[in-house]
Amino acid sequence: MTRSVVILNGPNLNLLGKRQPDIYGTDTLADVEMACAKVAAEVGLACRLVQSNHEGQIIDWIHEAREKDAGIIINPGAFTHTSIAILDALNTFEGPVLEVHISNVHKREAFRHHSYVSLRAEGVIAGFGVEGYALAMRRMGTLLG
Ligand code: DQA
Repeated sequence: MTRSVVILNGPNLNLLGKRQPDIYGTDTLADVEMACAKVAAEVGLACRLVQSNHEGQIIDWIHEAREKDAGIIINPGAFTHTSIAILDALNTFEGPVLEVHISNVHKREAFRHHSYVSLRAEGVIAGFGVEGYALAMRRMGTLLG
């Protein structure tokens, strides 16, 4: 059976393409899903993309991934900088975790420089725009290969 990777997106990312396009660009999450699916197919993986504005929903999806998925790509949005609960959930997952930020968080406000999720992630991509998701998927192909 083809192994799958879930691409989890946190708050405000439903507005990707419309939200602060100077920072996040004009591509939508549907565009991200298509780009990731293409790379996933190339490296022999399946993927699905989900988004929620609610911390508890993201935690529930991480728990589901324990049963369903071989890897997690996560852009936790602002929960990156606040959520010990998401970190704890990711610590219950056994496969690789890759963290993606569309913007270069290190070039922005100091409160975006710290990530709880980075304490768990095998790798972090920041500042590559939405291309970062597809790059993370390619890396999943290596990590799960
Ligand atoms: C973000 C960066 C976060 O600081 C911010 O809160 C987001 C998006 C990014 O993809 O660049 O919502 O994770």
